[in-house]
Amino acid sequence: MKIFIDTANLKEIKKAKALGLVDGVTTNPTLLAREEEDPETLIRKISSEVKGPINVEVTGITYEEILKEAKILTTWGEEIVIKIPVNEEGLRAVKTLSQEGIKTNVTLIFSPSQAILAAKAGATYICPFLGRLDDISFNGLELIRQIREIYQNYNEFQTKIIVASVRHPLHVIEAAKMGAEIVTVPPAILEQMVKHPLTDRGISQFLEDARKIREKR
Ligand code: E4P
Repeated sequence: MKIFIDTANLKEIKKAKALGLVDGVTTNPTLLAREEEDPETLIRKISSEVKGPINVEVTGITYEEILKEAKILTTWGEEIVIKIPVNEEGLRAVKTLSQEGIKTNVTLIFSPSQAILAAKAGATYICPFLGRLDDISFNGLELIRQIREIYQNYNEFQTKIIVASVRHPLHVIEAAKMGAEIVTVPPAILEQMVKHPLTDRGISQFLEDARKIREKR
């Protein structure tokens, strides 16, 4: 299972990388807006830090705007993946870009029908948004399950699913139980995944007992 880190914060990316936990990075305009640096400088820094796909989202709306922007974004690093929201203009752009060998990620996927069209357009990745569906009382994990089932029915669908909008460690566990290839995880959730109160208590006790042994000698 690959873990991408869902942030544009270089410090957090470096921290997760030091743990050996970063196979790629996903960003979006909201994540980039939280940072001080301008997007190009930041994405260039992230690209030189991480070996793996760096997902950067277009903000253009029309087919022409998306294509133009995508061509610029690909120059920001060696493994830039162009994130494109799913709609008619976006799907047209994905088709053209994939024919030109440019990697794409169709984002804001909330239904299996959108996932089918993204795969037909030749998307390299899709991002179904788990947490945002859960937020409105739909079962996000059920969406992932259905997309996986559909993609497995067709050899010609090479699109990989990036489980996105992850809100807690259980999302990661459930996605892993389904055999998800890639999950993009916010840094805070990576930290939660490491933690267990019994581990902390166990470490304290072992350290205390080790101290007692040293004092006896
Ligand atoms: C990832 O590519 C998405 O942009 C991200 O996971 C969205 O997460 P959110 O729903 O927490 O904003």
